[in-house]
Amino acid sequence: MTAQAKPDLIVVDDAQALAETAARRLIDRLSGKPRAAVCLTGGSSPEGLYRLLGEEPWRSAVPWDRVHWFIGDDRFVPETDPLSNMGAARRHFLKRVPAPRQNIHPIATDANYPEGAARLYEDELQQFYGAKELDAARPLFDLVLMGLGSDGHTASLFPNSAALEEKARWVLGVAKAGMEPFVPRVTLTFPTLASTHEMLFLIDSADKREILGRVLAREDLPARRAYSNGELVWLVARAAAPEE
Ligand code: 6PG
Repeated sequence: MTAQAKPDLIVVDDAQALAETAARRLIDRLSGKPRAAVCLTGGSSPEGLYRLLGEEPWRSAVPWDRVHWFIGDDRFVPETDPLSNMGAARRHFLKRVPAPRQNIHPIATDANYPEGAARLYEDELQQFYGAKELDAARPLFDLVLMGLGSDGHTASLFPNSAALEEKARWVLGVAKAGMEPFVPRVTLTFPTLASTHEMLFLIDSADKREILGRVLAREDLPARRAYSNGELVWLVARAAAPEE
């Protein structure tokens, strides 16, 4: 499998079409797999997708007992805090579906400090994967969801941070976030996020148009550095799509 750095751009009519297209792609990715892994993202962009997954007909189309749910980054706050990314995923869908408890893999934001939580999550991912080295021919995830911040960050990989260059570690503690909310974070690194059959960016609103234009024009922003060992897809609502 060769790494894909040039994205496929799919433009859909609106946020609802975006959520439905993402749900369809997610369900297709899971089909026929004895065990599947999805890496969720935080922020508001995936909320439409998350809500659909908790509702029919989508809910019945997901093989809940066979799917494991991870998170690409989280804020270092308790899951009950409204800022928690895994907390939001639970509220929006994981609490409403028959996902076995052991299939949900939150980052331990109750660890002593972000780097400690990063080490624990690295161990958990490596145990799930069954090795300590990623093999590009055997992706860790079936689908990785990603968002785009207004400064070009993705996951908790912020512009000009050393984490952008990390090649060895799977997960890192981020002591200082590059933008609001200014709480410490824990993030998967680019090589870990890339270990997937499909990386799917979700861009659902007009306020992303300017930054998306810069990413697609190949400006050296974190989101532009994201790559995938499988497919790399930017799913964009028309309001966010740069002028042709
Ligand atoms: C986080 C995220 C982050 C997010 C983008 C987009 O924890 O902040 O995971 O990378 O995906 O900031 O967020 P919105 O979808 O809210 O614009």
